Amino acid sequence: MTEKILILDFGSQYTQLIARAVREANVYCEIIPYYKNFDIEPGLKGIILSGSPFSVNEEKAPDVNVQEFITKVPVLGICYGAQLTAKRYGGKVEKSNKREYGRAILSNLKTKDDLLLKDVSPKSQVWMSHADTVLELPQGFELLATTESIPIAAFKKSEVGGQKSENDQSSANNRPHTSGIILPVSGFPLYCVQFHPEVYHSTEGKKVLYNFLVNICGCSQDWTPAHFITDTVEALKKQIGDRKVIMALSGGVDSTVAATLIHKAIGDRLFGIFVDNGVLRKNEFENVLKTYSQLGLNVKGIDAKQRFYDALAGKTDPEEKRKAIGSSFIDVFQEEANNIIHQTDDGKGIGFLGQGTIYPDVIESMSVHGPSQTIKSHHNVGGLPEHLHLELIEPLRSLFKDEVRKVGRELGIPPEMIDRHPFPGPGLAIRILGDITPEKVRLLQEADNLYVKALKDHGLYATVWQAGAILLPVKSVGVMGDERTYEFTIALRAVTSVDGMTADWAHLPYVFLADISNEIINNVKGINRVVYHISSNPPATIEWE
Ligand code: XMP
Repeated sequence: MTEKILILDFGSQYTQLIARAVREANVYCEIIPYYKNFDIEPGLKGIILSGSPFSVNEEKAPDVNVQEFITKVPVLGICYGAQLTAKRYGGKVEKSNKREYGRAILSNLKTKDDLLLKDVSPKSQVWMSHADTVLELPQGFELLATTESIPIAAFKKSEVGGQKSENDQSSANNRPHTSGIILPVSGFPLYCVQFHPEVYHSTEGKKVLYNFLVNICGCSQDWTPAHFITDTVEALKKQIGDRKVIMALSGGVDSTVAATLIHKAIGDRLFGIFVDNGVLRKNEFENVLKTYSQLGLNVKGIDAKQRFYDALAGKTDPEEKRKAIGSSFIDVFQEEANNIIHQTDDGKGIGFLGQGTIYPDVIESMSVHGPSQTIKSHHNVGGLPEHLHLELIEPLRSLFKDEVRKVGRELGIPPEMIDRHPFPGPGLAIRILGDITPEKVRLLQEADNLYVKALKDHGLYATVWQAGAILLPVKSVGVMGDERTYEFTIALRAVTSVDGMTADWAHLPYVFLADISNEIINNVKGINRVVYHISSNPPATIEWE
C-alpha cells in the first residue's frame, strides 16, 4: 500500500512546488482541486492545504471542512490554508496594513516540545506572500513563531482532551499508522504556517515539511524510483493482462521511459511506432531507433518523410504547418496501427494506446482555474483511442519531469537519451520560418547538428534548458574568398528555464559564439551569416513560430 499525502489546491502559483518538495522527501503525493471529493484511503497519511489568490473574507472564498479532516489525518495549512483554518475555528483574519511579500525572519520559535519547527534555527529566513493576515488566533490554538512584521507566522491547534498512545485500541481504530506518535484524543494534529515552506527562499522550508511528513504524519519515505518501477510494472501487468499495447514514440524522454516500463511488464506485446516526419534533427531517426533496439524495445521505424513534405508544401502559416504535421502523423499512425492489429490478430486484440503523459499535463487539465487553452496540436492523437477502440495507458501520469528522468536512469536508459533537451513535436518545421523544402531542412539539420555538438564539446549542453538553430527567411550579401555570396541566415537560440513557461536567453561565452559562427559558415554551404537570439520569454517565445 503506497502512503500518500493529499494537497488540496486553492489555486496558488506555488501548489506544484509543495508537491515537488513532498516528492523530494520520497513521499508520494497528489494535488486535487479543493472542491473535489476524495476518499480517506488506508494509505492516506496527511493533508496539506495550499495557498490561494483569494481572500478568506470574500463572499465566494474557497472552503473545505478542516474540522472533519482532522478526525482522520494530520493537516498542514499553508498561507491561505492557514488563514482558512484560523477563520473556520473563530479566529480573526483581516487585510494586512502592509502587504506581506518577500523575505522575513522567524523569531520566538517554539521548537522544544513541538514537532513542526523542530531543528529549525532561531532566525530562519522564510518567504511570505499574502495580503490577508491572521490577527487573532482562535481559542484552543497556540502560537509557534512570529516575524518582525507579523505576530502570527506559525500556529497549531492545542491538543486538548489529553493524549493516548496509538496502541490504545479504543482511540486508534481506523486511524492511519503513525508509528511512535502520540495521537491526541481530540483529533489529529493541525498545524498552520502563513509563510511558504515550499519555496526556495524559505531556507529551512524543506525541514518544516519534513517535520510534518515524517514526524507528524509518520510517512516512511519509501517512495523511490525503484519502488515506483516495481509498483508500476505490477499494476501494468494486471491492467493489460494478455492483451497488447501500441504506442507512438518520439525519441523524447517521456515516451521512451513510458515504453520501457510497459515493455518491462508485457515484453514484445508492446508495439512501438517511430515516424520519420522529415523534420527531425540530423541522423535522429537512425540514432533513436538504435537506442530503442539496445533497450530491447519492439519499435518499428516508418520513413514517411515524403508524405510530410507533400503535406507541408507551400504552407507558410505556423499553425497550418502544425496542423499539416499533426494530421499526417495521425494518418500514418493509424495505418500502421491497423497493420499491427491485422498482423497480430490472435483473437485477443490490441487493447491499449500507450502515452507518455506526465503529471503537469494532468494537473493542467483539472486546474482550479480551468484547463489551459494552449493545446499542443501536434500531440493531438486524442481522437485515436475512440477510433481504434483503445483504452489509454499512461504509466507516467503521476510523475514530474525530473522524476521521469530519475525513473529512466533507474531503468538503465542511456544518459544521452535521459538528459536531452526538449524538442518540439513539429520539429524543424517550426524552426524554418516560412515554407519548408527538403533543401532548407538539410541546411538547418547541418547547422543545428554543429551547434548541438559544439555545446556538448564545450560542456555547455547541460547548462542550458533548450537550444537549437533557426533558419531565417532572410538572404543577405557576404564575401567568401573573392566571391560575393547571397545566402541564408541562421539564428542560434539557447535558453535557461525551469519549465519552459518562462525562459531567459543563455549567456553563452563570446568565444564559443565566435567559434560556432565560424564553424557553421565554413561548413554549411548556403549560410553566410549567424546571429544569436537575446530576447527573454516573455515577451518573446522560445520557438520563432
Ligand atoms: P514557446 O515557443 O511557446 O515554447 O516559448 C515553449 C516550449 O514549448 C515547445 N513548443 C512546442 N512543443 N509542439 C511541441 O511539442 C509545439 O507545437 C510547440 N511549440 C513550442 C518549445 O520547444 C519550448 O520547449
